[in-house]
Amino acid sequence: MQSRYSMNKKDKKPYIKWILIIGALLITASITVWLYLHDWDMERSLDALTGANTQQQPAEEQIADAQEEDVVVPEEKEEEVEEELPVTPEPEEEAVEEEVKDATVYPESIELPEEPTVVNGILLANKQNPLPSDYAPGVNPEAQSAFEAMRAEALKSNIDLTAFSTFRDFARQKQLYEGYVAKDGREKADRYSARPGFSEHQTGLAFDIGESGAEQHWAAASFGDTEAGKWVAENAHRFGFILRYPEGKEQLTGYMHESWHFRYVGKEAAKEIYDEDITLEEYLEQE
Ligand code: DAL
Ligand code: ZN
Repeated sequence: MQSRYSMNKKDKKPYIKWILIIGALLITASITVWLYLHDWDMERSLDALTGANTQQQPAEEQIADAQEEDVVVPEEKEEEVEEELPVTPEPEEEAVEEEVKDATVYPESIELPEEPTVVNGILLANKQNPLPSDYAPGVNPEAQSAFEAMRAEALKSNIDLTAFSTFRDFARQKQLYEGYVAKDGREKADRYSARPGFSEHQTGLAFDIGESGAEQHWAAASFGDTEAGKWVAENAHRFGFILRYPEGKEQLTGYMHESWHFRYVGKEAAKEIYDEDITLEEYLEQE
């Protein structure tokens, strides 16, 4: 006789077996469908199940996303900047600042005049005030006499002055200037040589002064350091001459320092210019 226990076990066996088989089939089918719905990717399937995102974004997708951001973000920024721009423009500073004169610069277009410029009886020739091309008065006799008087006075101190260049006409100045441009270039030449029609030598009132026998200092900065150069710088005004292009005044006179170039302006003007240590341009502006 079978026990109650053994009898029940035997009866239930086929029933449990089928439940397990059907259960296993259902689970397998569910997993298969779940995996199919998530591209057969186990990690995605698990993420979907748990709600997490453990997967790394593929590099190309990250780049594509970044590029999308690059396109979108600047557009938004631009809009912001435009909105911040002031409606009315700031007043221009130029209106407040005074224009600074620079006598070294020739006007862009300037025709040679019919007559020279004379200010309060003094003839003015510089980069802004040219002369007629046919203006050719020769050496000014009053200036020549004044130079002779100065020479005689200097001789008393054993200084033998000479004027190695005085009146130069338009054609001569053209020849000189073009030679300097060929040698040094236009920009450099313009600092020490006048263009034809603009030279003070064409007025007959300019004297390039040196010492006889000391040609090495003629038309050289070194002349200012010689005894003769110092004497002329300190005494020329007594005879009506001024040092026309003093050191550090290039912006006012238009030319670099020339220790040898003197200009006859008459004793009265020369004394004032010397005493006040000003240029001819400054002196004539005061008048
Ligand atoms: N050397 C002076 C500036 C002239 O050429 O007239
Ligand atoms: Zn000169």
